[in-house]
Amino acid sequence: MVLKIAQITDTHLFADRTTAMRGLVTWDSFGDVVAEVKAWNPDILLLTGDLTHRGEPQAYQHLIERIAPLNRPTYYIPGNHDDVDILNQEFKNSPFLADKVFQDKGWQVLLLDSTLATAQSGEGYLSEAQLKALEQSLIASSEPTVVVLHHHPVPMGIDWLDTIGVQNYQAFLDCLTRFPQVKLVLFGHVHLEFDEPYQGIQFCGSPSTCKQVLRDGASEEEAYPGFRGLRLFEDGTYQTEVIRSHPRQSL
Ligand SMILES: [Fe+2]
Repeated sequence: MVLKIAQITDTHLFADRTTAMRGLVTWDSFGDVVAEVKAWNPDILLLTGDLTHRGEPQAYQHLIERIAPLNRPTYYIPGNHDDVDILNQEFKNSPFLADKVFQDKGWQVLLLDSTLATAQSGEGYLSEAQLKALEQSLIASSEPTVVVLHHHPVPMGIDWLDTIGVQNYQAFLDCLTRFPQVKLVLFGHVHLEFDEPYQGIQFCGSPSTCKQVLRDGASEEEAYPGFRGLRLFEDGTYQTEVIRSHPRQSL
């Protein structure tokens, strides 16, 4: 038995579906990625923030319309571009689940809110309450665990990007590394694929469904919109892959 999770992140939708972000129409590229998600056939969707660019209610409605054909239980967290109150209001009904902790097929998934209301440039922070909730969940269950948040909690090696990650990431890492059941940390925000181990935990950043951040020397493929697929096996092992769509616009 395997649990298949699709992480969809940084959709940056607008109320006007024709609006482009850095030259790419986000509604269109999201549609292309949703087609790939459908083909991959996940059991669950995880939406990891920056779901809209400006927090408009209509933009959340557009997202609902796009994922409706997938018809899968959908968990979510906000990013720095979201309006948390509007997001929670718009995602009240099925297929959305407001739970930030869930267990399935022998795994535990913990979702954290890393947004900071007073952020100046989109940086993140894990409040005492979020860190306490994380610790309590890890004390309560020793099932293999995936921790999910919007902002990156480890440096990406890109100067400007590393100023807007989780500001108190060391407190987060100090907590995680006390619990050997933590296998994987998933995040968005960085708009690029990242896959690195740290003290036995795999840290995975995932591409946006729209525009990517490109490192020097990045391939053409790395500019494409995409999502991350995660297979969690009952024996506590996992596999993960990034799947990209071929854009209809030139990037
Ligand atoms: Fe973003």
